[in-house]
Amino acid sequence: MLAKKKKFYITTPIYYCNRVPHLGSAYTTIAADIIARYYRLRGEDVFFLTGLDEHGAKMAEAAEKAKKEPKDFCDGMARKFRNTWKALNINNNGFIRTTDAKHKKVVQEVLQRLWDESFIYKGEYKGLYCVGCERYLTKVDLVDGKCPDHQRKPELLKEESYFFKLSKFQPELLEKIKKAEGEFVIEPLERRNEMISFLEKQKLRDVAISRKKVKWGIKLPFDTSHTAYVWVDAFLNYLSGIGWKGDLVALPEFWPPDIQLMAKDILRVHATIWPGLLMALKIPLPKKLFVHGFFTVNGQKMSKSLGNVIDPTYLVKKYGVDPVRYFLFREISFGHDGDVSEERLKERYNSDLANGIGNLLSRTLTMAEKYWEGTVPDIDINKTGVDYFSRKSKEDLRRCLDDIVAENFNLQNRDWSYILRHHSLRCWKLQQEAIEAFDLNEALAFAQTLAHACDAYIEHCEIYSPSKKLGDSKEKINIALYDVLETIRHIAWLLLPFMPDTADKIFEQLGLDPEKEKKKKFEEATKWGGLKPGTKIKKGKPLFPRL
Ligand code: MSP
Repeated sequence: MLAKKKKFYITTPIYYCNRVPHLGSAYTTIAADIIARYYRLRGEDVFFLTGLDEHGAKMAEAAEKAKKEPKDFCDGMARKFRNTWKALNINNNGFIRTTDAKHKKVVQEVLQRLWDESFIYKGEYKGLYCVGCERYLTKVDLVDGKCPDHQRKPELLKEESYFFKLSKFQPELLEKIKKAEGEFVIEPLERRNEMISFLEKQKLRDVAISRKKVKWGIKLPFDTSHTAYVWVDAFLNYLSGIGWKGDLVALPEFWPPDIQLMAKDILRVHATIWPGLLMALKIPLPKKLFVHGFFTVNGQKMSKSLGNVIDPTYLVKKYGVDPVRYFLFREISFGHDGDVSEERLKERYNSDLANGIGNLLSRTLTMAEKYWEGTVPDIDINKTGVDYFSRKSKEDLRRCLDDIVAENFNLQNRDWSYILRHHSLRCWKLQQEAIEAFDLNEALAFAQTLAHACDAYIEHCEIYSPSKKLGDSKEKINIALYDVLETIRHIAWLLLPFMPDTADKIFEQLGLDPEKEKKKKFEEATKWGGLKPGTKIKKGKPLFPRL
């Protein structure tokens, strides 16, 4: 019997579609895609959900401005989002829209249940509301009387509203967040501490979950003169998007999420209202919220009014999808804030991609064509490596690897042909640890480390002038070229979650069938010797032509 695959469920926030997707929403979505692709390669059964938040005052306003009916407006925007995700090579399993009939049904079922179980009561909301955030604000949140994020004055609301008894869950919530190995982990650590301190110092207030004035929304089943507050509506996407029907008996098989990604702007609601609703429903909480950094453009927050919103499709058209994916995740440390600019993209493109990985592939294949008739050298893979591993201590190995990168490698050393083999294995292991800790920029660096090692190795073995070396030892020089070609196969694997198209192109140029190669189990792919001696290489166009 086949062993059951481990399930892995990852979500992004659902984005407001009042405007076309920008680089910010693309950032979270690509991150989720990278993580999802990684776990798929690891053999897990992955569900990656993203989607759109389509109700509420802000959406209604945007539709009105566009002189369209809200639903028509959202349909048009949904197409744009889908196209952008396609252009960015996002391989999501689900795309939920809060205007989907199945989602609306779930929201109504849930609200009815909370009402029946007295978690909801009627009251009056008096206070400030920012339509930009779709959030209730207090005076403390304002700067010069305005919402600092949206530069607009909040409305003063005074209206009949239904409230959810969030305050009731404060002690339980705090306890769950504080548990070291809890079911509701918040990462990175500083974000977790921030939430703990918030919950220790402030009393959670019950939250208004309906709006009387806002017509564009899901009607409360027990009072149809109100619509559901957009955030309550939106949170439930994480359940309806994996097929939940709203009944408590059958939770979807992917529940709970292994990881929910977001930026810090929406952590607080995700760490209060969202778990509060789940606790009231007696549904297990997500395993982890991961809060990544917020990025600025040339030092400024990306915003329409500043005119610095970057359209990801513009970058993709100009530089190609993989360089954009590479840039975002190599440039900014995931989990911290950072700045991006087109200038930096160009610099990274030339230094890391054109001169780095792209050049390595093209020069190696040129050598193979010139001196080995375009064929992977015929060596005995099984002959190499074994005695090396048995004789060397870990410290010695590390020293050899550091030497090779520092171009301090001694060809006289009789262990020279095993260096790349060991280095590849080490990079796999370190990349694995980095991705699983969501250290995506560190994870991506290992492909580059390995490419540097290959460059150093080519220089020291002088593979580019094999006639000199052939006299010396034909076997040695054959092994040297083999080592580099096989290491490039490993580099392609390390790039796979981040730059799937590039990895495919590398496999192809090495003479491998990308589809077959990717079907390999992870353990098999990591093994040295995946590139068979005698394979015909297929040198193609440069991966990254210099700008
Ligand atoms: N609709 C709500 C979320 C509901 S989820 C139940 C919302 N939408 S949003 O369109 O404003 O998206 C906010 C999210 O977009 C952030 O949390 C982050 O994931 C992403 N980002 C938007 N701008 C960003 C940057 N400049 N930098 C990094 N992430 C950015 O809030």
